[in-house]
Amino acid sequence: MIANPAPGQPAAVGSRPAAEAAVRVTGLRKRYGSVIALGGVELTVERGEFFTLLGPSGSGKTTLLRLIAGFEQPDAGQIELGGRIVTRVPPYARNVNTVFQDYALFPHMTVAENIEYALRVRRMPKPERQERASQALEMVRLSGLGRRKTGQLSGGQRQRVALARAIVNEPQVLLLDEPLGALDLKLRQEMQLELQHVQREVGITFIYVTHDQEEALSMSDRIAILNQGHIEQVGAPIEVYERPRTAFVAGFIGISNLIERAGRQITVRPEKIRLLADDEQPPAGSVVETGQLRDVVYVGVLTRYVIDLDAGGELVVARQNEEAPALTPGVQGSRVRIAWRDDQAFTVSSGPGPDPGQQGQGHDGTGPGHEER
Ligand SMILES: Nc1ncnc2c1ncn2[C@@H]1O[C@H](COP(=O)(O)OP(=O)(O)OP(=O)(O)O)[C@@H](O)[C@H]1O
Ligand SMILES: [Mg+2]
Repeated sequence: MIANPAPGQPAAVGSRPAAEAAVRVTGLRKRYGSVIALGGVELTVERGEFFTLLGPSGSGKTTLLRLIAGFEQPDAGQIELGGRIVTRVPPYARNVNTVFQDYALFPHMTVAENIEYALRVRRMPKPERQERASQALEMVRLSGLGRRKTGQLSGGQRQRVALARAIVNEPQVLLLDEPLGALDLKLRQEMQLELQHVQREVGITFIYVTHDQEEALSMSDRIAILNQGHIEQVGAPIEVYERPRTAFVAGFIGISNLIERAGRQITVRPEKIRLLADDEQPPAGSVVETGQLRDVVYVGVLTRYVIDLDAGGELVVARQNEEAPALTPGVQGSRVRIAWRDDQAFTVSSGPGPDPGQQGQGHDGTGPGHEER
């Protein structure tokens, strides 16, 4: 039965103590020939979390999912599911399901047969099987399509079948590898909302892979940012966006906006920087720099200004288009002054730091340049 779990009580947790993390990965390494796909990954995913692995192509996202699912064996390290060590346990004996990017549906079967398949293999009696399948179909809003062949469905509908097929098993953890990658933008956005909704409803822990930063920010409880087989930072969407710890995270989530001042790499988000009018006084406690406007990019809701700074480097400033664009400043080549609040600038390291829990540091603005607090 796909029941609504009580608040804070994820479904299908068996008899394991509630305090155990859904997934705990320690020292996980995987190499393919000379390629280090994972170079010592540490990760804890809590029960009922919507957890996202975000990173560029080749960063190791799929490898990490396949190791958690048991399709691959690590060279070193350990994987725990709900407190149980499963590193050498075969996939079918792990309480985990995977939704693949290509959905991997059985084309000769109907929608209902696809969804019931795993239950049939487990020899669940037919009436119960059908009941569960129809509940799952309802959850993904496909009621009434159970008799269709999967070849007669749209991309979004196939995606929903794949999801229903996975949740009907009530796995402890559901792994989703770019499940929306094949859909167009509009459908993708719709499905993002529905996936979140389904996840909240069933309470299953989701580990969701994407390389789309907006998708990650809008859907997740927490995000891990992967780069070349390493986790650079783990945190809530607000943390990783507002307090990127490394240059890579700053650049991968949003516009990187990195400058070097006093021997440090500093990042400031574009919307935190103010383009000052000619006679405007900068707000107290802000850093002011001067430069030359190089580019003006109108993108509808806002305009981006690319500024070459006199002190070296460039910054992008984003400004909401409250006025018609013709009324906003924007003559290329003109001299500009910009200001940002001192506590909105963060020192970032150039690689993954030693402590994933530690956040970026603000600047106290007492000295020249940008001192770490
Ligand atoms: N079976 C394999 N044999 C050899 N190399 C592999 C294999 N699987 C993955 N790799 C390599 O390991 C690295 C990580 O691959 P992985 O598929 O985990 O990346 P990813 O983050 O999922 O990328 P994408 O966003 O493109 O799906 C890549 O350099 C890839 O080429
Ligand atoms: Mg992949």
